[in-house]
This record gives sequence, structure tokens and C-alpha cells, in this order.
Amino acid sequence: MLLLTGWICLTLTAAGCQRAEELTFSTSEAVQELPDPLRKAVEYQLHEHTGTYRRPKMLGDPDMSLEHLKHGQAVYQRRCAQCHGVNGDGLGPAAAAMYPRPRDYRRGIFKFTSTPYGSKPLRADLVRTIKRGVRGTSMPSFRLLPPKDIDAVVDYVLMLTHRGEFEEQLAYAAEVDEEVDPEYVPDMIDTVLGSWERAARQEVRPLTPQPAFTAENVIAGKQAFLSQGCSKCHGEDGRGQTRDNIGKDTWGHTTRAADLTSGMLHGGTEPFDIYRRIYSGINGTPMPSFASAFRENPDTIWDLVAYVLYVSNRRRAGELPPPGFAKPYVPEDERVDVVLD
Ligand code: HEC
Ligand code: HEC
Repeated sequence: MLLLTGWICLTLTAAGCQRAEELTFSTSEAVQELPDPLRKAVEYQLHEHTGTYRRPKMLGDPDMSLEHLKHGQAVYQRRCAQCHGVNGDGLGPAAAAMYPRPRDYRRGIFKFTSTPYGSKPLRADLVRTIKRGVRGTSMPSFRLLPPKDIDAVVDYVLMLTHRGEFEEQLAYAAEVDEEVDPEYVPDMIDTVLGSWERAARQEVRPLTPQPAFTAENVIAGKQAFLSQGCSKCHGEDGRGQTRDNIGKDTWGHTTRAADLTSGMLHGGTEPFDIYRRIYSGINGTPMPSFASAFRENPDTIWDLVAYVLYVSNRRRAGELPPPGFAKPYVPEDERVDVVLD
């Protein structure tokens, strides 16, 4: 027994040490393609301001403790890295077969925000997504994680995000100016962090209070849905089965307008969640912001929310046939026609 326990510990320690040694933050393709001296200059700045895998640092926040970030890293490695990748590039070993793909944090672009179109999310938005997951996708809910773990893993995700954003700035400077002038580095850091600080002051509030939804809101919502261009992408029945409903998202992956009848709204089912998706659009995807379209008649947004809620419940209510066999998503150029006899 003693022997066995000893053996298990030894194996675990060996595996543990080995993994800790192997893991490093890799650099982006853009950086890898730079000529040697420029690549080294970028790596030097990244190292200086965001640390290493062993000793990560939060960009622009030298006071954030290493212990806190290492705690976040431990949670992340255990629960997130298989999908989101060690350095947050969304290319974990489990990611390739997923639709939608796990988020590549390095661009600093997030979908489910409570800020205007094109803005960074609030920290609270990331916490919300992590706690409730993204229904209808592979992103699980982590609501049972202790608050301390959530807090640490959010900071670790932000650390990876800022590292990626900073890397993009450095790579751009290296490419355009053909040098990485240390004098401009503080400006780059300010550019990255400034956009997050601005977003923190721009939380979207509904333009008008939410009404108690009635059948009239649903009817008015349907009219708006058909006349304001929603049906062009989502289809007249909201199922998104239009011929042209296909595009690329900002991360380069194929994407389609949501099937609003699936009963699985990714961004949440509270009326205000849906309001935000319509008002602010969905960053990184073809879903546009309708903030200016409804400036004159803001109550129409609530009508659309009522209609989306109604449509989203139609399958459950038995009014629409089930969607058929669940098929894994296969990108068009990888599709093979299978003839069943
Ligand atoms: C099984 C795979 C999987 C695991 C494990 C996973 N995620 Fe995700 N995650 C996804 C997918 C897929 C998406 C994209 C959803 C979408 O685009 O609608 C996503 C999206 C996100 C987003 C972006 C939300 C937005 O607004 O754009 C965040 C933040 C996130 N995950 C954090 C985490 C954290 C933190 C963990 C670990 C505690 C984790 N994820 C674990 C698959 C996963
Ligand atoms: C140009 C195409 C396009 C138009 C026009 C469009 N959408 Fe979308 N919509 C999308 C795409 C693509 C998504 C999925 C984004 C993602 O999560 O990847 C989406 C997602 C949504 C969602 C979020 C669903 C969820 O799972 O949480 C709602 C709600 C929505 N659209 C409502 C509308 C309404 C209402 C209109 C009209 C006022 C509209 N859309 C117009 C493309 C479009």
C-alpha cells in the first residue's frame, strides 16, 4: 500500500513538474513572422509588461499580486484551457470541432456585453458569462465555482486579453515603423487600457422602461422584425434558414444568424439581455447595432424583445416542428455529401 501511494505521488509530481515546465505563452502569428530583431524587441516588451507563464503580470497594474494571478491560472488551466488555449487564443485541444468556437481573448472583443456596440465589456459582463455559460454552445456554466476562483479566473482572462491586445499594438508598430521604440510603449499600454476604462463608464440602460408584454407587443414586434431587416438574416420565421445567411465573424470563422426559435438564446433570456443584443448588436459578428435605427421610436425595441421571446418559445410550445437531427457544424469546404439509401 505504502509502495503504491508512493508510486502515485511520484507519477503525479513528475507529471506536474513536467507540465509546468512545458507551458509557456506563445506569440501570435503576426509576431512570429517578423524579422528576428523586431520579433525579439516585441518579445522583450511583452515579457517586461505582461511577464511569463511562470510569472504573469497584469498589463498596467503592477500591484496585482502574483499569487492572485497564479490562482487564476490554476483555475484556468484546469477548467478553461482545453477550449480557450493556454495563451487565450481559443485554440485549445478541444476547440476545433466546436461551433461557435471558444473565444480567442487576444483581440479583446467580446459578444455579450452591456456596453455600446464596438466597446469592451464590463468586468461584470465576463463574470456573468462565466457564471451562466453560453446556452446552446459548448461554453459551460461555472456557477458552482467559489467566488474566489471566479474572481481570480476573470482577472487571469483579462490578463491574457490585455497581453493579446498589447501584442497586437506592438506587432503593428513593428510592421509599420520597422522598429519598437520604447518611448511609444506607454502610449500603447494607454490605448489598450483606455478603451476598457471608457467602456466602464458607458453601460447601456434601456431608453424607455420595460412594459408588461401583451399580445400587442408581440404583433408590433413581428411587424418591426419583418420591416427592419431582421428577417433578412434571421428568416421570416426567425429560424435563420435563409439562403444567404452565412458570413465570417471577426475571428475568421464561419457564422450564421441565430436560430431564434431554438429556445437557447446564447446571450441570456431576460428581456433586458435581448434588449442589449438588439440595441448594441453583437461584437465580432454580423449582428448589427440598432441603436440609431430606433432612436425615434425606442419602444419598438421592447416590441422586438417581446417578439423574440415569443418566437424563442415556439418550439417548446409545439408550434414549430423540431429542427430535425442535430448535426455538428462542418465548415463548407470540409463538407462531404453522404448519400443514405
Ligand atoms: C468546453 C469548452 C469550453 C470551456 C471548458 C470553457 N469555455 Fe468559455 N467559451 C466556449 C465557447 C464555445 C465560447 C463562445 C460562445 C459564443 O461565441 O457564443 C466561449 C466564450 C467565452 C467567453 C466570451 C464571452 C463573450 O462575451 O464573448 C468567455 C469570457 C469565456 N468563454 C470564459 C471561460 C472561462 C473563464 C472558462 C473556464 C472557467 C471557460 N470559458 C471554459 C467554450 C468553453
Ligand atoms: C446582417 C444580419 C443580421 C441582421 C440584419 C440581424 N441579425 Fe440578429 N443576429 C445575427 C447573427 C449573425 C447573430 C448571432 C451572433 C452570434 O452570437 O454569433 C444574431 C443574433 C441575434 C440575437 C441573439 C440571439 C441569442 O442567441 O442570444 C438576437 C436577439 C437577434 N439577433 C435579434 C435580431 C433582431 C430583432 C434584428 C432586427 C432588428 C436582427 N437580429 C437583425 C445577424 C443579424
